[in-house]
Amino acid sequence: MTIISKDISKAVKLLTAEELVAIPTETVYGLAGNIYSTKAIKTIFETKQRPFFNPLIVHIPSIDYLSNIVEYIPEKAKLLAEAFWPGPITLVLKKKNIIPDIITAGKDTVAVRVPNHPVTLELLKKLPFPLAAPSANPFSSISPTTAKHVEDYFKDKIKMVLDGGPCRSGIESTIVGFEDDNPIIYRLGSTPIEVIETVIGEIEIKNRKEAAPDAPGMLGRHYAPKTTTVLTKNVSDAIKQYPNRLIGLLVFNSEVETNAVFTQIILSKKGDMVEAASKLYDALHQLDLQNLDIIIAEEFPDYGLGKSINDRLKRATKR
Ligand code: TXA
Ligand code: MG
Repeated sequence: MTIISKDISKAVKLLTAEELVAIPTETVYGLAGNIYSTKAIKTIFETKQRPFFNPLIVHIPSIDYLSNIVEYIPEKAKLLAEAFWPGPITLVLKKKNIIPDIITAGKDTVAVRVPNHPVTLELLKKLPFPLAAPSANPFSSISPTTAKHVEDYFKDKIKMVLDGGPCRSGIESTIVGFEDDNPIIYRLGSTPIEVIETVIGEIEIKNRKEAAPDAPGMLGRHYAPKTTTVLTKNVSDAIKQYPNRLIGLLVFNSEVETNAVFTQIILSKKGDMVEAASKLYDALHQLDLQNLDIIIAEEFPDYGLGKSINDRLKRATKR
């Protein structure tokens, strides 16, 4: 049985004993273990059925901790950390030797962030080691944004979910790497690109279809429901293409008047992309549980968080 609990000291005990604990963050729940315990880290990969070539994000308690684990901090990385931590931006930086190779899949860089969730910040401050934490879902499936999602995925495979309520942001952190000190977005996420650009100027997005992705979060099929999903700018037209099918609709802000669909979820009636992002994965989880023939998702406006939401929806449509 998985314990769902708010007891931070219990989480400290388990993590110190090299066990895994699912932890809340502002983006999604993570499956956490001591970065220095080979046993814990191996169990993370096994539990998620994640390939070992896909490196993990290291979660640290504060910006001051950064220099313990990275060799070098480019000026623009410093600006981003100061502007956004604690918060949903992950920096990929040259690692110090102290970071085990299993965390970074043998790369000489490490992905690191300070999560913005009071429960997990308190937990990190109590622990004498940082936490490696990929999203707490089986590889390629929808990330969890509630303790219940995690429990449903892993049942008794993990001892404890530290309950911090539903995740506020609801999509993963934005990942920024550096090549010759130039910042590059490896994964779109909860911190919109335009907001990042106000701090460090123009930033490039790396082509997500490259053969050997720098961030496997960039792999084609990822964040995917089991139900076939299509993405469209015109929901009414898309519905007509699937007559006599059990359709689930996922729309941004306005209800589609139709009798042809079985169920419909509106992500934000007031048209707020922050609200929509926070509800996105839960909506996909809900739709995926209804044995639909197809999920038709509406494309978002292509700016700000809309860009990140579209990125996840596109990956949800890949087979
Ligand atoms: O919001 C988040 O980032 C959540 C919460 C739990 O913090 N975590 C998360 O972890 O999304 P995960 O493992 O699902 O995604 C981590 C991504 C992967 O796409 C991985 O390839 C990339 O980070 N990554 C990790 N280390 C890297 C490195 N050294 N270079 C490039 N990409 C890296
Ligand atoms: Mg993930």
